[in-house]
Amino acid sequence: MSVEYDISTRTFTLHTKNSTYQMRADSFGYLLHLYYGRRTQGITDWVLTFSDRGFSGNPYDAGNDRTYSLDVLPQEFPIQGTGDYRNTMLEVRDADGVYGCDLRYSGHEISEGKYSLKGLPAVYANPDEEAQTLTITLRNERLNLSVRLLYGVLPDKDIITRSVIVRNEGTRPLTVMKLCSSCLDFTHGNFDVITFHGRHMMERQFDRQPLHHGSQVIGSNRGMSSHQYNPFIILAGHDATEISGRCWGMQFVYSGGFEAAAELDQFDQTRVIMGLSREKFAYELETGEEVIGPEVIMTFSNEGLGKLSQNYHECIRKNICRGKFRASNRPIVLNTWEALYCDFNGKKIIDVAKEAKKLGVDMLVLDDGWFLKRDDDSRALGDWVADETKLGCTLSELARSVNELGLKFGLWVEPEMVSEDSWLYREHPDWVMIIPNEKPTRGRNQLVLDLFHRDVREYIFEAVSKLLEQANIEYLKWDYNRSINEVYSRKTKNGKAIYNYMLGLYEILERINSRYPDVLIEGCAGGGGRFDAGMFYYTPQIWCSDNTDAIDRLNIHYGTSFGYPASVLSAHVSSSPNHQTGRITPLKTRYVAAMSGGFGYELNPLALSDDEKREIASQIEQYRRDRTIVSDGLYYRLSNPAEEAFCAWEYVSEDGTNVLVNAAVSLNHGNMPQIYITPRGLTSGKFYRDVDSGKVYSSDALMDSGFPLKMPARDFESYTFRFKQL
Ligand code: DGJ
Repeated sequence: MSVEYDISTRTFTLHTKNSTYQMRADSFGYLLHLYYGRRTQGITDWVLTFSDRGFSGNPYDAGNDRTYSLDVLPQEFPIQGTGDYRNTMLEVRDADGVYGCDLRYSGHEISEGKYSLKGLPAVYANPDEEAQTLTITLRNERLNLSVRLLYGVLPDKDIITRSVIVRNEGTRPLTVMKLCSSCLDFTHGNFDVITFHGRHMMERQFDRQPLHHGSQVIGSNRGMSSHQYNPFIILAGHDATEISGRCWGMQFVYSGGFEAAAELDQFDQTRVIMGLSREKFAYELETGEEVIGPEVIMTFSNEGLGKLSQNYHECIRKNICRGKFRASNRPIVLNTWEALYCDFNGKKIIDVAKEAKKLGVDMLVLDDGWFLKRDDDSRALGDWVADETKLGCTLSELARSVNELGLKFGLWVEPEMVSEDSWLYREHPDWVMIIPNEKPTRGRNQLVLDLFHRDVREYIFEAVSKLLEQANIEYLKWDYNRSINEVYSRKTKNGKAIYNYMLGLYEILERINSRYPDVLIEGCAGGGGRFDAGMFYYTPQIWCSDNTDAIDRLNIHYGTSFGYPASVLSAHVSSSPNHQTGRITPLKTRYVAAMSGGFGYELNPLALSDDEKREIASQIEQYRRDRTIVSDGLYYRLSNPAEEAFCAWEYVSEDGTNVLVNAAVSLNHGNMPQIYITPRGLTSGKFYRDVDSGKVYSSDALMDSGFPLKMPARDFESYTFRFKQL
């Protein structure tokens, strides 16, 4: 049993293989957090201390006892208005505008299996997998408000999930002003906070800071999870490294705005909360209505950050991604964006496809520019009618010609958007999120459709279906190229619009996935602006960044690897000099950096030299041999590229017999110190042969001393090593 309840002390314990999570409904009915850490037995209520703390209020029920204060005690679901002045998870305003509500334990249920969430993505358990759900209900009598706290436990994956459902059971409306889904309270504060910040073309940069007094807050108020901060936060002991020490992760299964705050309080205690962004959010609940706080995936590792990442990798690969592409090899693509941008015609596409076929790719992806009036990126979104004059044929004929060359055909769309210069906008100006009588902000000259509007959802579903029906399209790149600014919906109360937008998106994606299970959808939002577990539920791979520069990608992939597996990461080899940075890098290094689950090329094959063509053809053959270990193997970061002169990473097959190590050096320097690469995850007591050199190494020595890297003879040199267990 992974969920236990001790009736005499009203203590709940959640066990995974290597961790234990514990909480208690105390004598006042407050749900106090006791423990989350390495697996343990017994009850850990000794962490609770009680002292008279000035200016920390006491609940009325505590009578004259001034030592009981929710401002000090660790809690499971801290709420505003109970005398807890730290960051709280729920703020409720009643029909008279009064804030605050006191929630007490009113019951619980333990059930088999992992809960799901209506309309929202969530971790699922596989049929053969042990999973349990604990639901704890809290109530407020004055408002007749119920809050169900959901805990999902996947013991073998060391995963605990949390979500929350707030329901108005009273007779008057009330408004949820803030809603978080998960909280971690610790009675001490010796931690670092790790977050992943960035910008368009430079997403998920690793950042580690000591927790300090006050709140360290990350989030997005852009209506998307964002390039700027990934919805993922790690709390780590100061001494935690890749291979040792304690760390806790929180990852939001949501693609809209979010907030995560790590706080060190007046008594040096720590609280981390994660939930919906408060910006433009005021969710009114009528009688009988409820709102769901999206899920947070938590994991604890006592073996450092490497193990924490591996827990997330497993969970996303096997318990978030769905459909036939979850486990199967994805096609190797040639994408036309950086090859041609919008400047092409049907003949050029076929010429590119012919050359791509010779190189060995599986699929041609026709990116932006294929529909009427789309000769640059400033117009025509929304109409989704192929420009047959430009293509010289119908979309279906183009797809057929590509298929006849022996390639699959994929297509770019951006269905959530509309251009002012479009038939759709002229016909339905009321379908757009624009504030009446205000001039809207434009982002890349485009406006955002109101996805909570049923007709809009129907239109998008039909438009995408029509494309998929009219031509043999086996892959869709689902793009999204601006942040939401105006939050206005004609179909829902405006405090709900930003949340309901995301429900609308998820509904459309769900319908498309179930009607077209054989179509692979790649997510994209100007690269990695919606690179989150929520999207991975619908799109098993996401274009990682609009920056295709190999050296920048090393850093982007490094940060990405903390929360997400290589199998979901889409990366392409592009031309040199790179279009974003102007950097000239060796073709080999571009390949090594791009080798991931969603692999391909983003260059014009007609412009390649014969040598480059030969090299690419052999890269593709090599990729086919290595792809399984990349997608299914255990991933290890072997260096921190921000701190070391090189970036190295490793994949080890689950049985430990095969190992692939990649490394790249950025700038070469005179008389460089020798670089050693130290692999991990090999089976102790065994020997491994370097497949290329034939050299044999003892696994333990290799994992201790590493092996020397041949000194680079140029900037941006890269290396691949394959080891086989003897
Ligand atoms: C942004 C994407 O990230 C690019 O790869 C490309 O598809 C463009 N949009 C097309 O407009």
